[in-house]
Amino acid sequence: MPRPKILATRPLFDAARQILQEKCEVEYWPQEERISREELFRRVKDKQGLVCLLTDRVDDELLRGATKLRIVANVAVGFDNVDIPACSKRGVAVTNTPGVLDESTADFAWALMMAVARRVGEGETLARSGNWKGWDLDQLVGTDVWGKTLGLVGFGRIGRAMARRAGGFKMKVIYSDLQRAPEDVEKEVNAEYRDFNTLLAESDFVSLHVPLLPETQGLLEAAKFFRMKPTAFLINTSRGSVVDEAALVHALESKKIAGAALDVYENEPFIHPGLKRSNVVLTPHIASASLETRTKMACMAAENVRDFFDGKRPPNVLNPEVIKAT
Ligand code: DGY
Repeated sequence: MPRPKILATRPLFDAARQILQEKCEVEYWPQEERISREELFRRVKDKQGLVCLLTDRVDDELLRGATKLRIVANVAVGFDNVDIPACSKRGVAVTNTPGVLDESTADFAWALMMAVARRVGEGETLARSGNWKGWDLDQLVGTDVWGKTLGLVGFGRIGRAMARRAGGFKMKVIYSDLQRAPEDVEKEVNAEYRDFNTLLAESDFVSLHVPLLPETQGLLEAAKFFRMKPTAFLINTSRGSVVDEAALVHALESKKIAGAALDVYENEPFIHPGLKRSNVVLTPHIASASLETRTKMACMAAENVRDFFDGKRPPNVLNPEVIKAT
């Protein structure tokens, strides 16, 4: 039997390469520069599998030219870059990497919250500048995190991992989600349910942990910033388009909120110039970027591909109807 041909749009990590190579013949995009759309189209044409990143758009146009494709393994938990209905229509299975990045992402969201509240970025810039004149009583005074109210928008695995961290900071935790969590979960992480508008009004820190879906696109729009406290901060490690960026800039300019800490943006890698302010912490979509976690994500994607070509149901399939049908 010929080995299935796979295209991986990144060299991946050794551990993931080994898993893929058990079953497949793999072509890795070798360059530091991202694969262009044209190159992706060209290279995926004769492949049965694609291991891709969240920066690779998998849509009907690509699928039309990739007639042999049977599985797309996205190395990310978010899959808004993949048109799942289009894949399903053509019998292409899609997988993602849930679970393995929850704690690393929560760690990073926490770091962002601390950084914006305690002005870590500004402090670092001053310390490196050569202009620091020494300790002063009111120098770079920020706001405390401990004892405040943390509002979690989205109470899935990452939201709950945030709630667990909040215990150590004696914070009050409130959350909103489409569905209220079971009572035992609320008890375990000490979180109380609020409807979205009430959460915005009560929180000192609003942290976003929802996937990007048609229902969550622009969830934080202009009117929502009016509901927040002028002393509150917005933290976003989910997807940029969950926030209306222009409305956020306006809210910051007009002091509707005190600041923001962002890891994700509406049109990455473009960052709205209005966000480049001292009360905004900006990072380049790295919330899951620990070596341990990124390796696990790559391995998980590789396992999904291996299992698929072994005739098994890939553990993280997003459109299982495609598997049943084959
Ligand atoms: C994801 O997996 O969706 C993150 O945004 C990148 O780790």
